[in-house]
Amino acid sequence: MAVFGWVETRNRKKTTIVIRFIKRWLPGREEVRKPMKFARQSVALIRREYKGLPLEEKNVSPNPFQQFEIWFEEAARKIADDPNAMILSTVDEEGQPAGRTVLMKGFDDEGFVFYTNYESRKADHIENNPQVCLTFYWPDILRQIIIEGTAEKIPGFQSDTYFRTRPAGSRISAVASPQSRVVSSRTDLEKRVRKVQREYDNYNDIPRPDYWGGYLVRPRRFEFWQGRVNRLHDRICYTSADNRLWKIQRLAP
Ligand SMILES: Cc1cc2nc3c(=O)[nH]c(=O)nc-3n(C[C@H](O)[C@H](O)[C@H](O)COP(=O)(O)O)c2cc1C
Repeated sequence: MAVFGWVETRNRKKTTIVIRFIKRWLPGREEVRKPMKFARQSVALIRREYKGLPLEEKNVSPNPFQQFEIWFEEAARKIADDPNAMILSTVDEEGQPAGRTVLMKGFDDEGFVFYTNYESRKADHIENNPQVCLTFYWPDILRQIIIEGTAEKIPGFQSDTYFRTRPAGSRISAVASPQSRVVSSRTDLEKRVRKVQREYDNYNDIPRPDYWGGYLVRPRRFEFWQGRVNRLHDRICYTSADNRLWKIQRLAP
């Protein structure tokens, strides 16, 4: 019997060693541990020089919408993914700011358009306080544009036109997803999608729901930021009270 006890203890020890070895050296575990360590210790060392071309008062357009168009065209040519992605910042009832990425889907001399759910958190914020901020950052060309202004819903027919251009899957998701609300699980979300799918034989017939549409952001202030050497960046700011006469000023970086 004593012999059996000894064998059992030895086996248990072996098993413990094997488990410890697996836990320590499993690739999954290592992948999680290493970047964490790297990120925490080295984030302050991430550094690059911004060597952009000069942005000068005498060379910028007197119209900030035109200046935006010039920069956006360049971004769209040089940036492979999402040059139209922008951070939309809103403020809640208590003055707490909130930011999230949305896609710019149109711009003209009136302002900038994005689409979303009119019952989302951002929409609640805009309802309460229409003052918003849009931030584009294009690291590949060392540029940032910040646009401050007010958001308003665009006419329904314009949202209809854009909604029809969306792929069927995106239309279904827009209808099915109660954006910003708590959902019990991914399964619940997928159930909602299947329910919408069952309701329509032809997905092209799915109409835009009235809780989904576009906002136009009318700017009052633009800032064009160009990364320059030694962190002595160029910042050109446009302000206007009426969207006609724009004052141009240089800001210190
Ligand atoms: C690249 C990218 C593009 C996005 N585009 C949109 C968009 O155009 N409209 C939108 O409602 N949400 C978009 N989202 C999701 C939003 O960031 C956000 O999660 C969602 O709108 C809910 O935000 P809210 O709860 O603050 O209202 C995008 C996210 C990313 C990362």
